[in-house]
Amino acid sequence: MSQAPTARKTIETLLQEHRHFQPPASFAAQANARDPSIYERADQDHEAWWASWAEKLHWDRKWDQVLHWDLPFARWFVGGKLNASVQCLDRHVQAGLGTRVAFHWEGEPGDARTLTYAHMLEGACRVANGLRALGIRKGDRVTLYMPMVPELAMAMHGCARIGAIFSVVFAGFSATSLKDRIQDQQARLVLCADGCWRRGKLLDLKTVVDEAVAECPSVERVVVWRRGAGAATASRKQARDLEWSAAFDHQPATCAPESMDAEDPLYILYTSGTTGKPKGILHTTGGYLTAAYATSNLVFDLKPETDVFWCTADIGWVTGHSYVVFGPMANGVTQVMYEGAPNHPNPDRFWELVARHKVSIFYTAPTAIRAFMKWGDEWPAKHDLSSLRLLGTVGEPINPEAWVWYLHHIGRERCPIVDTWWQTETGSILITPLPGITRTLPGSATRPFPGVGAALVDEQGNEVQGAGGGYLVLTRPWPSMLRGIWGDNERYHKTYWSRFPGRYFAGDGCKRDEEGNYWLLGRVDDVMNVAGHRLSTMEIESALVDHPAVAEAAVVGVPHDLKGQTPVGFVLLRAGHQPTPTLAQDLIEHVAKLIGGLARPERVIFAAELPKTRSGKIMRRLLRDVAEGKALGDTTTLADPKVVEELKQMYEEKES
Ligand code: WTA
Repeated sequence: MSQAPTARKTIETLLQEHRHFQPPASFAAQANARDPSIYERADQDHEAWWASWAEKLHWDRKWDQVLHWDLPFARWFVGGKLNASVQCLDRHVQAGLGTRVAFHWEGEPGDARTLTYAHMLEGACRVANGLRALGIRKGDRVTLYMPMVPELAMAMHGCARIGAIFSVVFAGFSATSLKDRIQDQQARLVLCADGCWRRGKLLDLKTVVDEAVAECPSVERVVVWRRGAGAATASRKQARDLEWSAAFDHQPATCAPESMDAEDPLYILYTSGTTGKPKGILHTTGGYLTAAYATSNLVFDLKPETDVFWCTADIGWVTGHSYVVFGPMANGVTQVMYEGAPNHPNPDRFWELVARHKVSIFYTAPTAIRAFMKWGDEWPAKHDLSSLRLLGTVGEPINPEAWVWYLHHIGRERCPIVDTWWQTETGSILITPLPGITRTLPGSATRPFPGVGAALVDEQGNEVQGAGGGYLVLTRPWPSMLRGIWGDNERYHKTYWSRFPGRYFAGDGCKRDEEGNYWLLGRVDDVMNVAGHRLSTMEIESALVDHPAVAEAAVVGVPHDLKGQTPVGFVLLRAGHQPTPTLAQDLIEHVAKLIGGLARPERVIFAAELPKTRSGKIMRRLLRDVAEGKALGDTTTLADPKVVEELKQMYEEKES
């Protein structure tokens, strides 16, 4: 089994990890999940378990059947009808909680807004009415390209309210990436912001949208929300552009919600796979909300009357969908939302926000924790973090040092840590501690959430019993599982359900210890995880090959202290091109331009030849070894073993 490099690096240390932490007694005594027997109960009848959570939502019509499973196509809460925005907004307002704060929002320059649940409902209704006035109907696709502002959450709920399928594209993606996504889903409308603040600079988003939409004939209108602060953008107003204020602000503040089928699509979210083309992961309504609600409630132990929850993920990623916009809002909790960088103007921006808003639950990524460690212990030490009672991490394996640092310096030995494993495809957290029950270990996501079936299998698909390692698979359907890849059922089947027939292939390597704790080790496919963001090696390779100087390219993820992994490109030039440092920089920028800054390779190595098998497949595993300076693995299937030695030399010259 080939493992991602970070995984290989940490596995030795992981297996010697014997520290463990019991939930503090005071936490356990008040936890939403207190009774360990829920695991057994949920296991015995997982349908009844999930149905008990669905019952806590508001249904226009109750379901006839909990689960219809026609492998690999699941339908949950068959025949049930509901609306996602009603769960997250109307229910709370109707219960008299309209004045509860939904978001304490803070812009990077320091401007701040407070939005209640009533404000969010009004805003979502105005967007919904405005969308209808623009001719958007149930089932139409709307692309959102917006930064971390409350209007993005309003827009998502506004779309959900009328049954429009929304698709958020992270505002750090390039025009090309945005265009590809709009084209794939054939969106009729784009909602965007003109700009946003990042590290003291106003980024121009509207120009990116203009460039993308120029090649998207399906788009009829672009609605632009003004970030204000004189957000100057280079773009000019086009005939299809509408101001957000003109499109939505004058619309009525109420809007009858569309009663959606439990299986009607809610959103499409693109993620990288093992080919050059991103996958449009499709999530539907009833099951998704049920699991987002249940996991928010039990994993984050939400007490909506008193908690202030802060998930630092951008809404452009699935974590922001499930644990900013849907799960916490369905629970009616108060949240913090922040627009900008964690170290602007100083590395204590987060801690200052935690102290000011008395954040009680804080959820972030290991890459951020490693950055905090690097910036120095003095930054969190300056602030009163006594409001915190629970911490979480997500996105990549967390190294035990970072986990322990998080416990000491942020959790001040008091807060349990939930290391949560899940994916864009799974829609909600699947492997995780329950903070009032689980004995945690630094680096382990511990065990499957109640009702979730997980297993490890070997190369042949035989199940590994007890302690051991293998590929992580999921053995039964769960409510928030993806329902497919937009427009490509065959790829859905092939990617997730064919490698080990009947079981969902997650693409992660995993170890299980004697006590049954799961230790996630990273990706086993050609997907890498850079600063908690999924990137496909093939996507970056295609971007490199798109450059006129490049004949061939191979990209691998190599370990990186802060980002976990980082892409390195091996490039073969076309005749007539010289391998110069300027060209290397050009290629790096070309990737950033085509995909977005997050995909920028750490470096580019010019190669005379790439290592290939006799059948012509590039051996990325060997390139990884070269890039890591490791002793080379098995090269017997190589067509020309000399190639690797030469590459190694070139790489080492570059290093020195
Ligand atoms: C990785 C993010 C170890 C994993 C929610 C997975 C993790 C991919 C963890 C999904 C964790 C996520 N421990 N690895 N706690 N959480 N991963 O789709 O490799 O952006 O397959 O979803 O991130 O990334 P995605």
